Amino acid sequence: MTALVVLLALFAAPYTEAGARAHLEAMRKDSRRGMSIDPVDGEYFYRITQELKAKRVLEIGTSIGYSSGWFAMALKKTGGRLITLEIDPDRQAEAKRTFETLGVSDIVDTRLCNALFEVMKIDGPLDIVFIDAWKPDYLKYYGLVLPKVRSGGVILAHNTKNAAGPMAEFLAKIQNDPAVKTVFLPESIQGLSISTKR
Ligand SMILES: C[S@@+](CC[C@H](N)C(=O)[O-])C[C@H]1O[C@@H](n2cnc3c(N)ncnc32)[C@H](O)[C@@H]1O
Repeated sequence: MTALVVLLALFAAPYTEAGARAHLEAMRKDSRRGMSIDPVDGEYFYRITQELKAKRVLEIGTSIGYSSGWFAMALKKTGGRLITLEIDPDRQAEAKRTFETLGVSDIVDTRLCNALFEVMKIDGPLDIVFIDAWKPDYLKYYGLVLPKVRSGGVILAHNTKNAAGPMAEFLAKIQNDPAVKTVFLPESIQGLSISTKR
């Protein structure tokens, strides 16, 4: 096991932000990235992660690792780490390849799991949680992660415009819960909510 870790470290790409950005741009043009966030959301993740000096970020819904890559680029600067959860083994395998190519495998803990159960095992405090899995589950994830997010930390959720119906209860909750202050990223194409914990 130790030998495998050493081998992986030897063959992992050396990290440069320019290299990572170039790979994310290539992924953006790939037709298989259909479910992923858009670069405008990614640039926001990159910014907020640094603004909050985030050290611990949790992502629910890895897919092939595109959005994770944006968090990881910022976490390289803050000295933080990303935990990212995915239920589909093929997507998780591809995400692992993405992290190796980006040169961020050392700071990404990728878990093949049902996030609804895995989240319960993850201790706080978390600086950022990004919810991007099955839309009707968003309200459950919100309830599970809110106690783990530090004051001033944020819960981000994707597809608040194009999947508002299936997550209607979640959207009502984050706009009425006194525990958070919610705004929406205006430039996000598919919609991104930003709920800051008071
Ligand atoms: C929209 S995609 C994520 C896209 C990714 N965040 C990005 O922007 O690059 C949603 C992912 O959530 C995963 N997912 C759905 N329900 C899940 C669950 N209960 N546990 C873990 N992953 C789940 C799906 O398999 C899918 O890969």
